[in-house]
Amino acid sequence: MIGIASDHGGYALKKDLIAHLQKKGYEIKDYGCDSEESCDYPDYAKKVTDAVLSGECEKGILLCGTGVGMSITANKVEGIRAALCGDTFSAEATRLHNDSNVLCLGARVTGPELAFKIAEIFLETDFSGDERHVRRIGKIGEDYKA
Ligand code: RB5
Repeated sequence: MIGIASDHGGYALKKDLIAHLQKKGYEIKDYGCDSEESCDYPDYAKKVTDAVLSGECEKGILLCGTGVGMSITANKVEGIRAALCGDTFSAEATRLHNDSNVLCLGARVTGPELAFKIAEIFLETDFSGDERHVRRIGKIGEDYKA
């Protein structure tokens, strides 16, 4: 299961991304928001980070206008490694090197087709498991196990 949430700034792209990922066969749970009415991104980031930490979702995707508010919020949570990506190279590299478990997207920055590609690559790339990357993630300060 992939958990996804947005604020109002990411709402429209979230709906399109959900439809796209479902077409690709992914099971998606939408944690809100449910309209373009103004709301607070930390409330929705928390729903997805909780779902990832509890194991309800294997990975999360968070969208806001820039992706920045979502990534700042998600990265405050121990055990969450959130990557704000605006390109496919970073999406692949952050899975291979950082074992990121949350992808953040900026709906006012990244167009839909690129966002779809970024999300697909993020979801289909496995962590490399290389010792140096495990060591570096450990140095972030959490009790990391690959
Ligand atoms: C909302 O206007 C905007 O601030 C939000 O979507 C996000 O970009 C914050 O980082």
